[in-house]
Amino acid sequence: MKVINFFESEVRQHWLDEIARCEWGGGKFLYSLLSEGTFFDAVGERSKLLLLVEGDELISFCTYAEKDDIQPTKLTPWIGFVYTYPKHRGKRCVGRLFEHIDSIAESEGVDKAYISTNHRGLYEKYGCEYFGELTDIHGEPSRIYVKNINTKKEFNAMSKPKVLLINGSPRSNGCTATALEEMINTFREEGVETELINIGTADIRGCIACNKCFELGRCVFDDLVNSIAPLFEQADGLVIGSPVYYSSPNGSLISLLDRLFHSARFPKHFKVGAAIVSCRRGGNTASFDVLNKYFSISSMPIASSTYWNQVHGFTAEDVKKDAEGLQTMRNLARNMAFMIKAFADAKEKYGLPAIERGAFTSFGDGK
Ligand SMILES: Cc1cc2nc3c(=O)[nH]c(=O)nc-3n(C[C@H](O)[C@H](O)[C@H](O)COP(=O)(O)O)c2cc1C
Repeated sequence: MKVINFFESEVRQHWLDEIARCEWGGGKFLYSLLSEGTFFDAVGERSKLLLLVEGDELISFCTYAEKDDIQPTKLTPWIGFVYTYPKHRGKRCVGRLFEHIDSIAESEGVDKAYISTNHRGLYEKYGCEYFGELTDIHGEPSRIYVKNINTKKEFNAMSKPKVLLINGSPRSNGCTATALEEMINTFREEGVETELINIGTADIRGCIACNKCFELGRCVFDDLVNSIAPLFEQADGLVIGSPVYYSSPNGSLISLLDRLFHSARFPKHFKVGAAIVSCRRGGNTASFDVLNKYFSISSMPIASSTYWNQVHGFTAEDVKKDAEGLQTMRNLARNMAFMIKAFADAKEKYGLPAIERGAFTSFGDGK
């Protein structure tokens, strides 16, 4: 794969035909600007149209332009018309274009570029920060993001893998927290960013099977589940930690996970999952098994360690004495960090495997 500038290509008509394949309205508008020769009038004379290509195939494109759909404004330059063809999504193609923009902008002495969009959660993945809302040329509100221009070294730091950890225990400083803390320290050593969410004593109701989330893309009950969902979407890995209650994960965690996995409609495949459990004496592997089921129905590869992922104790002090339990946590975090990095490289090289959907066996209606 390589990035080229459309206007420097000798086969512009070929790339124009490729852009014509784009079914997105923005892509069609870009096509009309290019074919009618009004591109530079619309976005400024010094603008570039960058294409991520492999052989003859157009994979992604975006503009690096003086202007976009927020006008008039002193903000410039803008990254616009960002698009990846459906079969190439999930391969961080936009990241490749953004790296190229980094090098152009750096050579121009530009330290930031702006993006006008209605997307949420997409540009954050590429280190962009939300700037605020502005009105576009159609009078509609638009979300503005800032992309800080990075040197290569900084870019790598920005694109650090990230793991979200959820502690189901009502005790935020208890046994499960101690095990998760051991993992967090190891993730830090491995250059993986972490974010820990403690459910604590939050009142989390169970799923009522209304299936409204299929339309809304979020749960009808607007609580911790909906605030965790975008963090999960942005994360490369998820660790779920639970105390053992009557040989199962604790109830509020189960309620949260049922609703989170049912309502969060973004692709979860190849985010790495790991479950850890803490028990005083028994029921650990049964609980571990329940938690792993959330990953294995979501095409999430499961990281493993040198023992089943468990610690023993009634208090945090007990867990600190469980040397093998803590060793298991450190090995788990190291294995998980490796898997996340390896999958990121593999995604660049091979893309994510296709997922077939459509078949839904329901014996009740005879299908
Ligand atoms: C309602 C309840 C049920 C429990 N059931 C079990 C159990 O089945 N097996 C077990 O070994 N410990 C059980 N425990 C103890 C906790 O699982 C154990 O102390 C755990 O390490 C606490 O983790 P935490 O400090 O992160 O909450 C139970 C505790 C509670 C409050």
